[in-house]
Amino acid sequence: MAKLQQQHSNTAGWAPPSVQKRWLLTLLIMLSVSTLIAFFIKSAFDSCDPPHPHNFDVAASNKPAKVFSKSIKTAPSPLSFMKSQLVLLVSHELSLSGGPLLLMELAFLLRSVGTEVFWITIQKPSETDEVVYSLEQKMLVRGVQVLSAKGQEAIDTAFKADLVVLNTAVAGKWLDAVLKENVPRVLPKVLWWIHEMRGHYFKLDYVKHLPLVGGAMIDSHVTAEYWKNRTQERLRIKMPETYVVHLGNSKELMEVAEDSVAKRVLREHIRESLGVRDEDILFAIINSVSRGKGQDLFLRSFYESLQIIQVKKLKVPSMHAVIVGSDMSAQTKFETELRNYVMQKKIQDRVHFINKTLTVAPYLAAIDVLVQNSQARGECFGRITIEAMAFQLPVLGTAAGGTTEIVVNGTTGLLHSVGKEGVTPLAKNIVKLATHVERRLTMGKRGYERVREMFLEHHMAHRIASVLKEVLRKSKSHPNS
Ligand SMILES: *[C@@H]1O[C@H](CO)[C@@H](O)[C@H](O)[C@H]1NC(C)=O
Ligand SMILES: *[C@@H]1O[C@H](CO)[C@@H](O)[C@H](O)[C@H]1NC(C)=O
Ligand SMILES: *[C@@H]1O[C@H](CO)[C@@H](O)[C@H](O)[C@H]1NC(C)=O
Repeated sequence: MAKLQQQHSNTAGWAPPSVQKRWLLTLLIMLSVSTLIAFFIKSAFDSCDPPHPHNFDVAASNKPAKVFSKSIKTAPSPLSFMKSQLVLLVSHELSLSGGPLLLMELAFLLRSVGTEVFWITIQKPSETDEVVYSLEQKMLVRGVQVLSAKGQEAIDTAFKADLVVLNTAVAGKWLDAVLKENVPRVLPKVLWWIHEMRGHYFKLDYVKHLPLVGGAMIDSHVTAEYWKNRTQERLRIKMPETYVVHLGNSKELMEVAEDSVAKRVLREHIRESLGVRDEDILFAIINSVSRGKGQDLFLRSFYESLQIIQVKKLKVPSMHAVIVGSDMSAQTKFETELRNYVMQKKIQDRVHFINKTLTVAPYLAAIDVLVQNSQARGECFGRITIEAMAFQLPVLGTAAGGTTEIVVNGTTGLLHSVGKEGVTPLAKNIVKLATHVERRLTMGKRGYERVREMFLEHHMAHRIASVLKEVLRKSKSHPNS
């Protein structure tokens, strides 16, 4: 991050003055953590991508017929019915990771329509933490009232609230720990927002109250289906009414993505820093480096694609692989494995490792193709996918998880299977996009159109409103209320 900032200010130095101001402003907005634009690379431990706060595609997955898809234009906020409601948001932690940032965005959306918003963080570091402090300040400034996780005030607020949003599966522990015998009284107005797809969350400890909450909100149909299966098979409990909520792009990201001048400046700058030319083709993975995200398999595909090009004597510009999300201190073994592979295959001059960063927009501006190579069940949603599409990039993705709900195979990108079976198909897809410039550009444009159609802020505002409305309606008619 520090390096990136430094690079940006260098860039500002040589940008023409007229250009400088506008994109510099945008960049400053982007670089400011406090704006909570979730240009965020999440921790290697989660299986699902950090959801993006802004845009939601909602359909009740328990009942496929129920789909909220009304479109809105520049009407007043569809959340305006939440004015004068009291909402309690319960976050498992407060950090710069996807889940908490997403919940904060919801807090600000609600504040913007006059909702009374209370915030509880379940797990806080014992000593004062700079991140926690600055995020709490941010909330206080916006009129979000921050409460202690335990104690009478928390309980009273839960009783008074019209709606309680629990964020992520583990937040379920808070119910018993704090509300104790009063849990049943609060459950009907709980909306449980779930962003993960991993076995270890299927513990009764965390999720035993799921069947009786007002509703569950999940990032993709695949993830919702997975939760339905696993809760039933493993725990013998039933999911509540479940709403699928696709995430989307913030206005801020769209602004950069749609600003051709800013994009060009960022592109030139990043390419210069990587030592690649304008005409070179860059394929990038932007994800925390970990086996689950498939950087190892991507490198194998990349190497294979170079061989195909050599053997077939194809005429293509120089190709590069960019791996954004490196963290030598966290995943040393896997990182070392990747670097050894690169050395062994002698492709050091074509593979670039970039440290983890919150600011991915410059890389999206600089590359030509996004590779989303998440393995196993894939991404919960995969926010970076729609961010890349906003930048008119085609996506080469695994046919798994949320990616299959975002990428239209053959139209906005190409899908390959997970695992070793996917290595050669991905290699061929890399060659395809390297050799067919027109196709690559067309796919990028189609991806952008799809983002404009489905993954924008105004879609979200409307759709999340539908969920809140429904959960509120049901809880108000519940005998407990
Ligand atoms: C859920 O279970 C059904 C039936 O057992 C199966 O067909 C489906 O593939 C499962 N879905 C997931 C996501 O595991
Ligand atoms: C990347 O992070 C490592 C520590 O994980 C650090 O040693 C290195 O200097 C960083 N590189 C850049 C370019 O910031
Ligand atoms: C994607 O489409 C291509 C044809 O464009 C097809 O060969 C391939 O099997 C499809 N992959 C998936 C996972 O649907």
